[in-house]
Amino acid sequence: MKNIVRFLNLSVPVREQELYLSAMKRVLAHGQLVLGKEIEELENSLSKYTNRKYCLAVSSGSDALFLALRALNISKGDEIITTPLSWIATANAIKMCQAQPIFADIDNSLNIDVKSIEKLITINTKAIVSVDFTGRLCDYESLEMICKKYSLYLVEDGSQAFGAKDCNNKLCGSFGDVSAISHNPMKVFSAFGEAGTIYTDNEEIYDRLKILRYAGTINKETCIVESLNHRMDTLQASILLERLRTLEKNVLQPRAKNAKHYDHSITDKVIKPTLKRNERHVYYTYTLICNQREELQKYLTSKGIETKVQHRTLMHSQPLYSSQSNTSKRYADELVKKILCIPVHEKLSLNEIDYVSQSINEFYS
Ligand SMILES: Cc1ncc(COP(=O)(O)O)c(C=O)c1O
Repeated sequence: MKNIVRFLNLSVPVREQELYLSAMKRVLAHGQLVLGKEIEELENSLSKYTNRKYCLAVSSGSDALFLALRALNISKGDEIITTPLSWIATANAIKMCQAQPIFADIDNSLNIDVKSIEKLITINTKAIVSVDFTGRLCDYESLEMICKKYSLYLVEDGSQAFGAKDCNNKLCGSFGDVSAISHNPMKVFSAFGEAGTIYTDNEEIYDRLKILRYAGTINKETCIVESLNHRMDTLQASILLERLRTLEKNVLQPRAKNAKHYDHSITDKVIKPTLKRNERHVYYTYTLICNQREELQKYLTSKGIETKVQHRTLMHSQPLYSSQSNTSKRYADELVKKILCIPVHEKLSLNEIDYVSQSINEFYS
């Protein structure tokens, strides 16, 4: 293949550009650049989509997670159990509340291994933050049972999985006490800049979130708690509203088709993402678990195929956390040396998908 197979392609097809430009022009015309009517429209559309009572638009996925934890009054001395495999923002949001992230383990789904959680629970444990890593939902039935048994909050970091469903058709954004989602440009449901959303069914939590979103104020006037500005700008909301209309057809379906093609065409010498019956993965990444990861990555690079390791360093091994986290051996330490994300985005052609599969198979032949 002559051209590079790109891991990501964020360019917007010309035929779609007009739609986004029109949406942005409408915002420029009414001039409510912050908290304009599109913000409320987006919040209403997304609470309907996720089947949550409340949705709040904020400035990023990191802010969404941080505010979710603050709204639950997570603070100094609290311990929050989470996965070791996520973008570092997950652990940092906990740390920014002055709480302590406690890192559990993962299994081959690359999500938190529910069997590794209970032994970590102490009198200080307040919540579990689950991450729907790679675009696949966690085992929420088990997580909800553990949270109920020990009276813990459950916070869903659904940043990578907007649109994912469990076997009962329950959507990402609808699990736990609060859910946080990122809409940064790399995400499956993305804005043209930084953006995030928060979801809950609890009115009290929602009211606290609204206060925290804007400098800890009620009615933009009376400050009752310390907070900064975490508002989403109206231009991003207008883009997200436009994107939502075509998400299924333009993003989710093509990604699912690409993934299915990989499922059938890539050798079983690597472990491919698996799913339960009727479950829906949104393939933020298509992540292989493979032997000789470094050699395979080099080989694919030599064939013009871009790949990524998300993430090379587990959160508990980052300098910020390595001195304080428990050092017992995790399966995650083994798995992280074997994960490789291959291109799966919606702009790939079938030829490119075939070429990637063939190249992987060649490497293992
Ligand atoms: C799992 C996860 N959590 C949180 C974040 C943070 O989101 P943002 O980049 O919008 O701040 C990301 C973004 O990469 C993520 O993948």
